[in-house]
Amino acid sequence: MKNLISVLDMKDNMLELIELAEKLKKERGHHGAPLKGKTLAMIFEKPSTRTRISFGVAISELGGDPLYIASNELQLGRGETVEDTAKVLSRFVHGIMYRAYDYKITDELEMYATVPVISGLDNLEHPCQALADMMTVKEKKGGFRGKKFVYLGDGNNVCNSLMYACAIAGMDMVVACPAVRMPNAEIMLKASRIADANGCRISASVEPMEACKDADVLYTDTWISMGDQTLAKEDALRIFKKYQVNSDLLAVAKEDCIVMHCLPAHRGEEITADVIDGPQSVVFDQAENRLHAQKAVLYKLLG
Ligand code: CP
Ligand code: NVA
Repeated sequence: MKNLISVLDMKDNMLELIELAEKLKKERGHHGAPLKGKTLAMIFEKPSTRTRISFGVAISELGGDPLYIASNELQLGRGETVEDTAKVLSRFVHGIMYRAYDYKITDELEMYATVPVISGLDNLEHPCQALADMMTVKEKKGGFRGKKFVYLGDGNNVCNSLMYACAIAGMDMVVACPAVRMPNAEIMLKASRIADANGCRISASVEPMEACKDADVLYTDTWISMGDQTLAKEDALRIFKKYQVNSDLLAVAKEDCIVMHCLPAHRGEEITADVIDGPQSVVFDQAENRLHAQKAVLYKLLG
């Protein structure tokens, strides 16, 4: 594993990364400084709370230095190529974390950088989120086999990464989305093949009530992702309405079902306040796990 652009990059390492993240979580405050002298450039084209802060704290707690950069303040914003930027940054820093509108930028960075490149989300995937999410499922449910993970709402970047992650973990996943907002077909096919080989199943449904029956995990994300101009707000509210994670859907899931959301959340849209703020919600433990999971990634790639 050299980079983390897609969950596929950690196909053979995901479970080991989760174990390392669990260990780092227990040992927080006692890491020593395994990444002393290492600098992580963190470049953002879009806003971020969790990714920005958790990566910054993660590299600092491992003894390294975070370098936060807004992409429009780089010469990249004035037309310097991604190739040149990747080559130059590789002479200065030990790793690059990049949040992009377009996955092609992350791909190109990976191609030309000689240091590890980590995606902090693009329009296709959000691999660090998926890693923290799998860590959270394991922490709350004790494992993956035989568990039913249901994703509701928009078939977006987070959903794409979760399909790969569930397939690799060996957990059944049902993607419950409107037919016009199903996830990326190629990613779904690839994830299904991995799942088949790993004794689990990735399936799709347009019937949320049916999908949520006996679920161990209900997961949702915003109905309109950053930079997504394919859907007007009023259309989104209409199309996704029946996929809202609310007490009716939660009632058909298992009694001990947990509720997850990568955040930021829009109460009253993809999830109701009583559910996200209720006893089955684990969203803040899930957010915290971004820190531990990313420490594991940094340790593995920069250590
Ligand atoms: N979940 C997540 O990536 O949050 P941010 O956009 O705040 O980084
Ligand atoms: N799907 C969301 C995730 C935000 C963390 C987006 O891309 O905006």
